[in-house]
Amino acid sequence: MTYENLFELLQNRRSIRYFQDKPIDEKVVEKILASAVLAPSVANTQPWHFHVLQNPELKAKMMECSCYGNFVTGASTFVVVTCDKAAKAATESTIWNPREMEYSCAIAMHCVMLAATTLDIGSCWVSLHHGPSHNILKLPDHHVVIGGIMLGYMKEAEKLPSGDHQRKPLPESVTYYA
Ligand SMILES: Cc1cc2nc3c(=O)[nH]c(=O)nc-3n(C[C@H](O)[C@H](O)[C@H](O)COP(=O)(O)O)c2cc1C
Repeated sequence: MTYENLFELLQNRRSIRYFQDKPIDEKVVEKILASAVLAPSVANTQPWHFHVLQNPELKAKMMECSCYGNFVTGASTFVVVTCDKAAKAATESTIWNPREMEYSCAIAMHCVMLAATTLDIGSCWVSLHHGPSHNILKLPDHHVVIGGIMLGYMKEAEKLPSGDHQRKPLPESVTYYA
């Protein structure tokens, strides 16, 4: 097995914010989420929970909770990811840094975006204000809202490169130690 296409996938994933008015089949959403749960997690706690929103009213309410996401309703599917802080380690492992459960959810969110890209579905992480989004979904206290992901078939214009996607030169982000 070779993995060389991963580099191409990473290069091709970009945040997509404007979508066609075309629903994503339930089975396709399921395939994407089945890929997300393959993410690593601290002590294999798998603390993520994916709330799949397709109802326009619910998506509109969630848009009001977004920090910079007044386009959320344009996406056919909006997935809110929460971290279940009560999730248990798969073994007797101690979780030294509970924040790592939240990091695990963020990794799963990256998996969602990569899996969507392979299926030609656009995606974008949307920052959510925790309190209001927590209330809308009527979540228990032990769930923390990590963020949302818009999913949808992208508009043609979105396929063009955008300046937002530029990266700093690698040396600015890396330090090597002898
Ligand atoms: C934690 C996180 C929060 C983000 N929040 C938003 C957001 O609220 N609205 C938005 O339009 N994009 C959001 N983004 C997308 C970033 O703006 C985007 O990833 C960045 O500009 C790099 O572009 P690229 O994803 O196309 O490579 C977020 C990304 C991350 C990882």
